[in-house]
Amino acid sequence: MAQGTQSTAAAFALPAADGEREFAFSDADFRGLAQVAYEQAGISLADSKRNLVYSRLSRRLRALGLATFREYRDFLDQNIAERESFINAISTNLTKFFRESHHFDHLRSEVVGKFARANAGKSGRLRAWSAGCSSGEEPYTIAVVIKKEIRDLERHDIRILATDIDTEVLGRGSRGEYPANSVDDIPRNYQEYFRPADGAPDTLVVDRQARSLVAFKRLNLMEQWPFKGAFDAIFCRNVMIYFDGPTKTKLIERYTEKLKPGGFLYIGHSESLNGSTPGLSLVGRTIYRREA
Ligand SMILES: C[S@@+](CC[C@H](N)C(=O)[O-])C[C@H]1O[C@@H](n2cnc3c(N)ncnc32)[C@H](O)[C@@H]1O
Repeated sequence: MAQGTQSTAAAFALPAADGEREFAFSDADFRGLAQVAYEQAGISLADSKRNLVYSRLSRRLRALGLATFREYRDFLDQNIAERESFINAISTNLTKFFRESHHFDHLRSEVVGKFARANAGKSGRLRAWSAGCSSGEEPYTIAVVIKKEIRDLERHDIRILATDIDTEVLGRGSRGEYPANSVDDIPRNYQEYFRPADGAPDTLVVDRQARSLVAFKRLNLMEQWPFKGAFDAIFCRNVMIYFDGPTKTKLIERYTEKLKPGGFLYIGHSESLNGSTPGLSLVGRTIYRREA
C-alpha cells in the first residue's frame, strides 16, 4: 500500500494524457471505480484523484496481466475477492507515532490518569478504539501512554481495539515492527517502549506488554459494528476526510452512541464536525466529549 507521500510523488510522475499512459483509462473508468470505492468503503474520490487512482491501480493491472482499466472493472465486478485488493490499493494510510500529539496529552491526563486514580488499589475496565488505525502507530501510541501512566496494568481490564478496512496495513500493525527511524516521531520519555529488534537493528519493536493491549481487526466503518460495550475514548483521525458530509454525519452519530457518557472523541486536526453534534461538546482542539 502506498503511503501518502509515495503516492503523491507517483501521481506527479504520471503523464497526464491518456495516450501516453501504459493502460487505457477513460472518464467512465474513473467514474466506475469511484462509484465502487464509495459503495464499498464510503470513500469519495474527487476528480482531482484521477492520477492517484491510476497509479495505485496500475500495479493491480500488471499483477493480474490486464491491458486496460475497462478489463480491470469487469474483473472487479466478477471477482468479489478483488474488492479487498482494490480497497487496499486506493486507501491512503499515512500515519505516524504521536501524530497530533496534544491528543495524547489530553488522553493521558483526562482519561488514563483519571482512570488510574479512580481505580487505585482495585481493578478497572478501560476501552479505547482507534477507528481507521492504519499500520498501528496510533493504537500503539495509545498503548504506551496507558503503560506509562498505569504501573499495575495486570490488575486491570484494558483493551485497545484497532480497526481498519485495509488488510495489508492491519498485517503490519499486528507485527508491531517499524523502521528504526520511526523513533524520531516518539518523544524521548516514551522511547523506552520501542526497542531495536534482536539481530535486526534497523527494526523497531513495540514493547510486548503494550502490544498485548491492542487487538487488530478488519472493520469497514460503513458496515455493522459487531462489538458491544462503550468506549472511554475513540480516535477517528484523518479518516473522515475521505468521506462526504452525510457519511460523516452518520458516523459521528454512531461514534456518539458508542462512547460512554463523559468519554472522548478525537478527530484529525484538519477535520471539523461542521454544524451540530448532538450529544457531543467541543472541549479542546478537535476533541469532543460525550455529554452525560
Ligand atoms: C490516513 S489513515 C489515518 C491513520 C491514523 N488514524 C492517523 O491519523 O494517523 C486513514 C485510514 O482510514 C482507513 N479507512 C478508509 N476508509 C475506511 C472505512 N470505510 N472503514 C475503515 N477504515 C477506513 C484507511 O484504510 C486508512 O488506513
